[in-house]
Amino acid sequence: MSIEQVFVAGAGLMGHGIAQVLATSGRRVVLYEPEHARATAGRERIAASLARAVAKGRLDEEAAGQAIERVATTDEIAAVGTADLVVEAVFEDVDVKSGLWRQLDRLAPPRAIFATNTSSISIDRLAAAVSEERQGRFVGMHFFSPVPVMPLIELIRGSATSEETEAAIRDLATDLKKQVIVSADRPGFIVNRTLMPFLAEAMRAYEQGVGTADDIDTGAKVGLNHPMGPLELADFIGLDVCLGIMRVLWDGFGQEQFRPPRALEELVAAGHLGQKTGRGFHTYPR
Ligand code: 3HC
Repeated sequence: MSIEQVFVAGAGLMGHGIAQVLATSGRRVVLYEPEHARATAGRERIAASLARAVAKGRLDEEAAGQAIERVATTDEIAAVGTADLVVEAVFEDVDVKSGLWRQLDRLAPPRAIFATNTSSISIDRLAAAVSEERQGRFVGMHFFSPVPVMPLIELIRGSATSEETEAAIRDLATDLKKQVIVSADRPGFIVNRTLMPFLAEAMRAYEQGVGTADDIDTGAKVGLNHPMGPLELADFIGLDVCLGIMRVLWDGFGQEQFRPPRALEELVAAGHLGQKTGRGFHTYPR
């Protein structure tokens, strides 16, 4: 099926990035947040990112202008009524996501594919929020941050996901110039299952005074050739998001490597969520 109109629920770090790549690929996008100012802020971030791409010569000015014109914002969930595809990129919490999917299922056209950008929660568990007819069109489509830069999509099929739905998501991914990997519907899928124990161990090393935050990060950057150190990467992803993913992994597997580190719990409880609040394992000038 052809995907022309996309409803993106959630205009945060992932949601606005997803909206940007979809609009740049020629699709019309409605960016939804229950609070309109948040949707508008997401659209402004897209405009700024497109302007940076123009300044760097990666995109011509006309294409950037057309892309931003294709992004509308709304606080009306009923705007999902014309969507071919719905992408959900809201906070990593099963109740928040399920509640939203339940509402969207009532309002979206029967043809619409439902793709969740969950980074760790079971697709079958989320699909339980929608009607049986929709479950064949329910799929996991996990993007990586920053979405315009990272060329990977993890595709996760639930037990009811149809071949047609998988094919439609694969075609879309190709059009977005993203490579697809397929993961079974297990906690954290492939990438976060392998990434989170690394981030958690770096946090435990920090907690135990093995090294400073800078030295732990420099170890990975200079010694392992990673673009960011693990603490810096956790700050970049968002410490609340990391904690949410680690909790899903810990609940799902009960293995020590997935246990959320104390330092992470404490920072999140104090409201220090990383880059987005200006402080996490490192501090960031606002
Ligand atoms: N939006 C759009 N483009 C961005 C961007 C953003 N937020 N941040 C950086 N870029 C672009 C730049 O414009 C630049 O493009 P160019 O080379 O064409 O000019 C390119 O990315 C490199 O940027 P910079 O030179 O400014 O900065 P760096 O070289 O330091 O790279 C980085 C920045 C790409 C973020 C790099 O540090 C990196 O790859 N970090 C690791 C990112 C990562 O691991 N992401 C996955 C996180 S896990 C995840 O998302 C899953 C989730 O479920 C938790």
